[in-house]
Amino acid sequence: MAVAERVSTDPGAILKLLADPTRLRILALLEREELAVGELSRALGMAQSRVSNHLRLIREAGLLGERHAGTKTFLHLPLEAGPGLAGRLWAELRGELDGLPEHAADLVRLERVLAEREGQGSFFDRYAGEWDKRAGGFATGLGRERALTHLLPDGLVVADLGCGTGYLAQALLGQAARLICVDASEPMLAEAERRLGRNGDARATEVEFRQGDLDALPISDAEVDGALAGMVLHHLPAPDAALAEMRRILKPGGSAVVLELLPHRETWMRDALGDRHLGLEPSDVVAAFQRAGLEQVTLDPVSDRYQPERPEEHGGGAADLGLYLVRGRRPRVRTSSHARSNR
Ligand SMILES: C[S@@+](CC[C@H](N)C(=O)[O-])C[C@H]1O[C@@H](n2cnc3c(N)ncnc32)[C@H](O)[C@@H]1O
Repeated sequence: MAVAERVSTDPGAILKLLADPTRLRILALLEREELAVGELSRALGMAQSRVSNHLRLIREAGLLGERHAGTKTFLHLPLEAGPGLAGRLWAELRGELDGLPEHAADLVRLERVLAEREGQGSFFDRYAGEWDKRAGGFATGLGRERALTHLLPDGLVVADLGCGTGYLAQALLGQAARLICVDASEPMLAEAERRLGRNGDARATEVEFRQGDLDALPISDAEVDGALAGMVLHHLPAPDAALAEMRRILKPGGSAVVLELLPHRETWMRDALGDRHLGLEPSDVVAAFQRAGLEQVTLDPVSDRYQPERPEEHGGGAADLGLYLVRGRRPRVRTSSHARSNR
């Protein structure tokens, strides 16, 4: 269908659409770059659910171009092709956005999203099928058990963030009432789906898979009782945005649990396992929990060890790395200093 036919001609609807600052930011990003919804959410630093609502309105007004490639949908702005009212108004407005701090921040995040499209995201996409073999295992599995006891009692809604191939999620089957598995990599999610489908007890636990970023989770405010991020924070540039998101998706009183690696010197893990940081200082993670407004923060050593296989050129054999758990709760009463982060 031609673009001109799709653009709404109702001036009231167009003015209403363009009167919203978030929608202007979305249009500005999509004019610059064709993006998947998850990428757009990350560039905006917003939850995907919130962005999707705006996209629905933009689509209804006929201002959204979509291109389907396999299972993915890429969004773009078709306005430049149309001389209609929306196109003319946008031509006037777009120049005004350049000075806005929100738009400048969007552009910084956009650069990161595009860099990750080439690098980090595709790393896990490439190795999803062989991830379990490549990443090796835990000495005893007790680290996993300890992480999960923090998410008791039974019958909760739990999010496994950066679920990978579903190693942690698997142990929640039959215990959680609902399990929401989130990962940036579609192929990793597909592996998780295979694993959980194989071992699942569908009657006891409802399992959902959602593609998305830890910085902009595809989960609504206060949707879950427990949020778990296992072996994933060391893949992020910094943990703050992810922890703010964990707090946002938790119900008041809900628990956030992080399983992480102690700092180590296994530099080959950068290339072989995509690790951005060689472990994280526990005190830094505790401080990040506190900055996110999580309370009753506890640091818990784990006697389990993480033991991935070194490649031959790095000496072979299993590495032997320490683990720890950090847990915090979302306060039951909303505090004013963090009220704004509860989007
Ligand atoms: C080391 S695996 C951990 C998997 C699982 N949690 C476990 O403990 O076995 C890290 C996972 O985090 C995902 N990941 C990395 N960065 C991410 C991000 N920014 N948002 C969402 N997922 C991310 C990767 O795709 C990968 O599947």
